[in-house]
Amino acid sequence: MTKGSADMHYGGDYNPEQWPEAIWPDDVARMREAGVTMVSLGIFAWSRIQPEEGVFDFDWLDRVIDLLHEGGIAVDLATATASPPPWASAKYPEILPQDANGATYWPGSRQQFAPSSPVYRRLAAELVTAIAERYAEHPAVVMWHVNNEYGCHLNADFSDAARDAFRAWLEVRYGSIDALNDAWGTFFWSQRYGSFGEIYPPRKAPYSHNPGQLLDFHRFTSDALFECYLMEKNIIRAAGAVQPITTNFMGAFKPANYWQWAPEMDVITDDAYPDPNDPESFRASGFQRDLMRSLKPDVPWLLMEQATNALNWRPTNAPKAPGQMAALSMQAVARGADGILFFQWRQSQAGAEKFHSAMLPHAGTRTRTWREVVALGSELAELPALPAGFRDARVAIVFDWENWWAIESTDHPIVLNYLSLVQGWYNAASKLHVQIDFVRASDDLRGYRVVVAPQLYLLTDAGAASLRAFAEAGGDLLVTAFSDVVDEADRFRDGGYLTQLGEALGIWLEDFGALVPVGSAGLGQQLAPITTEFGEITGTLLAEEIHVDTATVVGAFTGGRLDGQPALTRNAVGSGRAWYLATIPDAAGTASVLGHVLEAAEIAPLLDGLPDTVEVAQRGDVLTVINHGTEAVTVSAKGTVDLLTGDTVTAFELEPFEYRMVRR
Ligand code: GAL
Repeated sequence: MTKGSADMHYGGDYNPEQWPEAIWPDDVARMREAGVTMVSLGIFAWSRIQPEEGVFDFDWLDRVIDLLHEGGIAVDLATATASPPPWASAKYPEILPQDANGATYWPGSRQQFAPSSPVYRRLAAELVTAIAERYAEHPAVVMWHVNNEYGCHLNADFSDAARDAFRAWLEVRYGSIDALNDAWGTFFWSQRYGSFGEIYPPRKAPYSHNPGQLLDFHRFTSDALFECYLMEKNIIRAAGAVQPITTNFMGAFKPANYWQWAPEMDVITDDAYPDPNDPESFRASGFQRDLMRSLKPDVPWLLMEQATNALNWRPTNAPKAPGQMAALSMQAVARGADGILFFQWRQSQAGAEKFHSAMLPHAGTRTRTWREVVALGSELAELPALPAGFRDARVAIVFDWENWWAIESTDHPIVLNYLSLVQGWYNAASKLHVQIDFVRASDDLRGYRVVVAPQLYLLTDAGAASLRAFAEAGGDLLVTAFSDVVDEADRFRDGGYLTQLGEALGIWLEDFGALVPVGSAGLGQQLAPITTEFGEITGTLLAEEIHVDTATVVGAFTGGRLDGQPALTRNAVGSGRAWYLATIPDAAGTASVLGHVLEAAEIAPLLDGLPDTVEVAQRGDVLTVINHGTEAVTVSAKGTVDLLTGDTVTAFELEPFEYRMVRR
């Protein structure tokens, strides 16, 4: 076993432009002390690099890059396009974005650019060209950091630049205005368009917008940001740069369809800020990390940003508990990351983030934060190279951006929060200590034993065919309520509901049956008790009226409107099974349904007998066990060896926030 993974990056955002140059040598010295191997440089340095149009000042950047290089610190060089300087919007106000009411987002903060603005794109291209041509061959530069968190703060732009680009985008998508009218169903409410020039972004309107227009505007918004990324990526490559190119993601971030972006990322990088006060936030960050691994399963991803300690942007910014930062960092490594970086290196003296923790705090090196940063740096340096192929999970959950946009559109039987519903299934798997991958329905699902498709409202033909093929080939497919409702234009298909999966599921669906809020007045049913072969569970939000054709009833509604009618069914299809759950169970119900399906599919936990608050993650043959609870636990891990020492392990103790990596 070789000691020390050269591939493990450690560091953070470095903003030397905020500091006098005299401090830089101290920065580099401290970075070395902390085990920093790479910094993200210049993310918000546009106004420093280009003080006015046509004028570039690279002398300072040359000096800082050289200094880092001499100190052995590699550079993830930013293109600096995320925050245009004040001169740009003063000279070209059309680069400023607008909200749905036509209000402008003015300068004075950051990220105030309209992604579709041709002027913004020209200015960004000029900046990136200058940076890329200057540094493409600099030996310090090991990665390119395009822009920053595309879409953050401004989820959509409704400006005139967006209007023009949306029209052009629609023309490419539909080819003719008739095709658009057909897809959007515009004879409804007299919305029929005579030309693309009559169409607007879904700006403020008297009542509900056309759902097809809303869905296409989501697609367009993601594409507009993605085009900005691609433009910069192409410029960097054209300048001769050969280093990997990335932009930092934000986990499950609704405005940007990362499935579509991922193939154009050489490496996936992600920013994550779980709330240290929330005892369950490690599960949300687990979800995020598994999603990042799933986006590009053959290449380790990087945790590009996290906080060493407290944030500044929640109403209350609790500090991280001792050990919590390391535990969450190792969660990322355990789930496929080959790098741990922070926002930011040195805590700011001025500006909106002066209370945000950093690797080097205001109070300096005598702090707990610094000690923990140094300790983590040396622990990461000690790790042997970890397995790089990540197709270990036998269970996958379908997570789909287009569905997210469509299912949260207006005027549905009930308001649903897609992310929290998918998170519910993830949480259940996490508590059962079963590893999850995320997939799209249309992906190649052959490696999995179980695929769960929660609330897959928008189902494409390709997605449906793939799910059917998965079950036919011997998999267990679990589909849950409000799935297979509309096609990719958010329209019902002929034949009602479950038109694509009904036969495989062996059922048909009569109606959705929204449940009214618990505790509300009125005649509506609030919860849906269900009796199953494996116990009682409770349905929430929807109690669908389904009818069995060929399926076996595994659970039935008890009491209420649907008393005695099927709630959970199982159908033999090919050599596999297709399950349907006609409701959205509460957390306990989700765990018992998932547990039942996993048992039927003979999926065992990664380790037995662990409490809920202990996490276990698999990376090839390496298991990482992390105690996120407040009590010490004993973990039995027979048949494993300690990753660092190679010693045989049978059982070990973990204090709160302690972790251990073993091989099996
Ligand atoms: C991120 C951003 C960083 C910093 C950080 C603070 O969204 O990319 O620049 O603002 O949040 O938590």
